[in-house]
Amino acid sequence: MTTVLEVNNLRVSFPGPAHSRFCPVDGVSFSLQRGETLALVGESGCGKSLTSLALLQLIPAPGRIESGSGIRLGDTDVLALKGEALRRIRGRRIGMIFQDPMTSLNPVFTVEAQITEGILAHFRISKAEARDRALQLLQEVGIPDPGERLKAYPHQLSGGMRQRVMIAIALSAEPEILVADEPTTALDVTVQAQILEVLDDLRARRGMAVLLITHDLGIVAGRADRVAVMYAGQIVEEASTPRLFASPSHPYTQGLFASVPRITGPLQRLNPIRGSVPAASAWPTGCRFRPRCPKAFDRSEVEPPLLPVGPDHRMRCWLAEQTKETGHG
Ligand SMILES: Nc1ncnc2c1ncn2[C@@H]1O[C@H](COP(=O)(O)OP(=O)(O)OP(=O)(O)O)[C@@H](O)[C@H]1O
Ligand SMILES: [Mg+2]
Repeated sequence: MTTVLEVNNLRVSFPGPAHSRFCPVDGVSFSLQRGETLALVGESGCGKSLTSLALLQLIPAPGRIESGSGIRLGDTDVLALKGEALRRIRGRRIGMIFQDPMTSLNPVFTVEAQITEGILAHFRISKAEARDRALQLLQEVGIPDPGERLKAYPHQLSGGMRQRVMIAIALSAEPEILVADEPTTALDVTVQAQILEVLDDLRARRGMAVLLITHDLGIVAGRADRVAVMYAGQIVEEASTPRLFASPSHPYTQGLFASVPRITGPLQRLNPIRGSVPAASAWPTGCRFRPRCPKAFDRSEVEPPLLPVGPDHRMRCWLAEQTKETGHG
């Protein structure tokens, strides 16, 4: 296995009151292997998008990545890059599908202009060659009649088509890693399945690694090799997808599962997790999930570390100690 990306103790901060700073992303570590799909899952406000933006140093000011954070892309120390060197990895080594397709597609440029822009920026080829590549990319992401679509403007496309164009743009410079931030949230279920299919196909054919960001555990099964569950700026559970689905161990993960609607099987009542994600400026002390946790028991103000609960399976919960002692989990 080749590790293509390694994120180590990533912390992203924003200014709070009275010269303080708070960390919406607070000590996130994970790695990505060549050809694998890692899903980053969690409710709104957990810090998923900021984590992905940090990978390309795209945190909006006055936010910043704290020192002590590490992002390695193969041999490259991403956080040490500036200017031209940084621009070279954007798109070329890490392609990004941003969360909001309408704001990331430019309404005044054609699909062709937007796809060839990235190609021309990274490769020394003619405009005609870039157009041919754009055409191929549209075919690859399953857009019918690609010649016509190249001339279209974003508003002339359906939501699903726009999302496919976004994928084509992200792929235009043939990145090693594709980051897809909620690539299907705005789409209906059928189109959602098609888009996920396209992504998986591309991963397999190109040997790309994919970081799939979603709030929906339901789309992870069968599509991701591993899952990292995020809560309040931290990873709280991480395991292979089969393992996570067979024995979700963190009460937060269990809560997420209980709130996934099931189409098959007996009709189940949804049990949403009580309460909501606290503001990033006020992450609770001790276990951050404790105020919402149905299994909370009194414990110190110390934060639980990520503890092993099985093979390649870790969680950030004091229950991990018990799980290990009793051999369950
Ligand atoms: N520009 C900003 N300025 C200040 N705080 C911010 C900013 N962007 C994000 N945050 C804080 O960081 C938290 C996490 O944001 P992020 O966009 O990473 O969440 P997310 O997990 O992607 O949520 P969603 O599922 O809604 O996309 C937010 O709830 C907010 O408190
Ligand atoms: Mg987001």
